[in-house]
Amino acid sequence: MAVRFELVTTDPTGARAGVLHTRRGSIPTPVFMPVGTHASFRHLSMEEVKATGAKILLSNTYHLMLKPGIDVFQRFGGIHPFMQWDGAVLTDSGGFQIFSLPEDRLITEKGAHFRSFHDNSRQLLSPESSIAMQQAINSEIMMVLDVCIDSRTDEAGTREAMERTHRWALRSLVAKNKVDTGQALFAIVQGGVHPHLRDESAAFLTQHPFDGFAIGGLAVGETNEERKAMTARAAASLPQDKPRYLMGVGTPTDLLEAVLRGVDMFDCIIPTKMAQQGYAYTFQGLVRITRQVFRLSDEPLDPTCDCYVCKRYSRGYLQHLMSGKHHTGSRMLSVHNVHHYQQLTWRMRDAILKGSYAQAYRELKQLVATPKD
Ligand code: GUN
Ligand code: ZN
Repeated sequence: MAVRFELVTTDPTGARAGVLHTRRGSIPTPVFMPVGTHASFRHLSMEEVKATGAKILLSNTYHLMLKPGIDVFQRFGGIHPFMQWDGAVLTDSGGFQIFSLPEDRLITEKGAHFRSFHDNSRQLLSPESSIAMQQAINSEIMMVLDVCIDSRTDEAGTREAMERTHRWALRSLVAKNKVDTGQALFAIVQGGVHPHLRDESAAFLTQHPFDGFAIGGLAVGETNEERKAMTARAAASLPQDKPRYLMGVGTPTDLLEAVLRGVDMFDCIIPTKMAQQGYAYTFQGLVRITRQVFRLSDEPLDPTCDCYVCKRYSRGYLQHLMSGKHHTGSRMLSVHNVHHYQQLTWRMRDAILKGSYAQAYRELKQLVATPKD
């Protein structure tokens, strides 16, 4: 088995604490995976990523196949020696990216035909070529190529995309089983905002030997209520003994909600994207550090945070860096935000282990509440 999921406890609420055993370390869950799309984290060095406490990172097949290309990963023996990361890696398949490609793409049963953003060359991303690329990257966890659609697509269109996702998932499984690379493969539940399609998708995919199951097609235009309902619906149909991954979600509040509904894994660009815009997530709410009121503040960003930024630097200094557009400012905010997400998952896990997630959920929801919630 390429990964093994050990379910340690299920809290009375249904929230789960587990351990995801991979060939590059055992990862306590719930877990948040920072996103390094291009095998890089913009302003962060790999040393800084490590310092956030992250044990598993996400990278993207679609971007890496175009640049630097499959031959580079074959030459270096995968992404770990290439980017000097010895923890685990999950690669997304490219399904989400083909969905947002410009108009001149063509998606057929075979796969997605499009032109490279890099050199305009013709490209095909199929279930088989996505697996081949993920094998060259040598991630611990590969994702099947899926068909993502707007949440507002009608039921007939949603069913069509879901059924193609199922056929592609089986083709991915066949491609993966041709060579044993020791990598895991997760399937992706689709079905838009239609509860019975979510049930059908989970029922179909769980009949096949995938190593874990993701919930996809969310955070693409649905309401918060729909997202919570679909997460609960999909999670309820998934097996207890396999990890559950909610793709592309979300804010700290979204993580609290999804864990309550039985989700184990997350990834999102929000903490790093918000850092670039000058926002820090703290256990006292969202802080917009560029505000003038912080000019004279000698307080840390978050007195309860033990990241190196909070241990050493003041809000006043960060205000100065960010308002002057110094790269070190967004870098420090990124380190802090990713660390904050890690701390949030650790706090959730502690509470689940004690059987007190209901209380922790209420308290943490207050602490991390942001004006947008
Ligand atoms: N990232 C966020 N949502 C999705 C999804 O539905 N599919 C894939 N492949 N990646 C995602
Ligand atoms: Zn901090």
